[in-house]
Amino acid sequence: MKMIEKILLLLLLLAVTTAARCEAATVRLHATHTDAARGLSKRELLQRMAARSKSRSARLLSGRAVGTRVDPGVYTDGVPDTEYLVHMAIGTPPQRVQLILDTGSDLTWTQCRPCMSCFSQTLPHFDPSGSTTFAVHPCDMPVCRDLPWSSCGEQRWGARTCVYSYAYADRSITTGHVDSDTFTFANADDPIGGASVPGLTFGCGVFNNGVFSSNETGIAGFARGALSLPSQLKVDNFSYCFTTITGTEPSPVLLGVPANFYHNTAGAGGFVQSTALIRSPSSQLNAYYISLKGITVGTTRLPIPESVFALKEDGTGGTIVDSGTGMTTLPEAVYNLLRDAFVAQTTLPVHKPSSSSVSQLCFSMPTREKPDVPRLVLHLEGATLDLPRENYMFEFEEAGGSGSITCLAINSGDDLSIIGNFQQQNMHVLYDLANNMLSFVPAQCNKL
Ligand SMILES: *[C@@H]1O[C@H](CO)[C@@H](O)[C@H](O)[C@H]1NC(C)=O
Ligand SMILES: *[C@@H]1O[C@H](CO)[C@@H](O)[C@H](O)[C@H]1NC(C)=O
Repeated sequence: MKMIEKILLLLLLLAVTTAARCEAATVRLHATHTDAARGLSKRELLQRMAARSKSRSARLLSGRAVGTRVDPGVYTDGVPDTEYLVHMAIGTPPQRVQLILDTGSDLTWTQCRPCMSCFSQTLPHFDPSGSTTFAVHPCDMPVCRDLPWSSCGEQRWGARTCVYSYAYADRSITTGHVDSDTFTFANADDPIGGASVPGLTFGCGVFNNGVFSSNETGIAGFARGALSLPSQLKVDNFSYCFTTITGTEPSPVLLGVPANFYHNTAGAGGFVQSTALIRSPSSQLNAYYISLKGITVGTTRLPIPESVFALKEDGTGGTIVDSGTGMTTLPEAVYNLLRDAFVAQTTLPVHKPSSSSVSQLCFSMPTREKPDVPRLVLHLEGATLDLPRENYMFEFEEAGGSGSITCLAINSGDDLSIIGNFQQQNMHVLYDLANNMLSFVPAQCNKL
């Protein structure tokens, strides 16, 4: 008996240490939707998401044609400019930050003390002098030279410190010094608990200017460059799983996804769909390109030549999957075909909004029942994304009326197609960087 107990204990210990070693590579954090805590009506949520998606796509596009001005008119005052914030802490002891989850840029930065020009934030500014693990990078470090713009700081900044300036396509800009410190990745229930990783490089922004209105303290870069969080953590993959956008539950984000974890998600009844991640040699956009081939509405495959979606040699066109865009945005000609197919295959009356507040295609639903709408399928290279209704139709009650309204959560835009996160709700999306694959599997994201 004693012996068996000992063996069992040994086996148990072995199991525990193996599990711990597997998980060591996984960093789990959580994202919250920027509108989650604002107590807005569904109509407002839809309007704000549409406005954000339009400005985001304008910004991504202007990133490729230097000098193009982004029309600030697509912004409505007070509408945040992003979709998700990730929560973590920097320093020892940890100081909380909340950063925009941006798959379109590399540098991670937060506003720092002493601030010369900062936008307002709810959390206190990060204070380097309050951290025992904080270190300034000297300007001759390779990491400093990797940045698009950096220089050697003089006295005011600290002699020979790495000073950076990082600009976004909408002319937002952050300037500060490049440092390293310990990052603690927050659990949903404990903002400063969770895994700690020492020595991560980040920007301490002391001069930050632009449109920052999402309650963020900075940006977390998840793109493909050397400075991005996935690159610095040397993970081969990362994933996110967005909970229902109109709800308030946090969404899990994993850096380093255990193989069995992803498989267990698949066990929830869905098929894994995978498509290749493409790198664009000419595009200035360091984003995640995939290959969209066609779209089916109801029973009709829309007559779109594949070349419409193709990534052109000059870096224009193409399709990206983006954490920072709410609604999928399609080239205008494609959107018009899609809209016409929806109207033709829906028996519901098209809803003419009384005010111009909602620009989407909407239908009136006379009763509270949910009549059928045509299905929507995105045909990707090697994958078919047959979207559940709640991933492309947005429903809300008509003010004062007895019925409700259902709107197509898709935007018309420029030649770049963007798969937005409304279409990714309750899907576990895996970015397999080692194999250049993107996978989707239906999941209950609040249960991961
Ligand atoms: C802004 O962030 C703070 C700190 O995390 C949080 O308490 C507050 O609810 C947030 N406000 C909104 C509108 O999301
Ligand atoms: C993520 O990468 C790790 C390390 O290479 C690997 O062990 C794991 O299987 C990958 N996860 C998935 C879901 O592919």
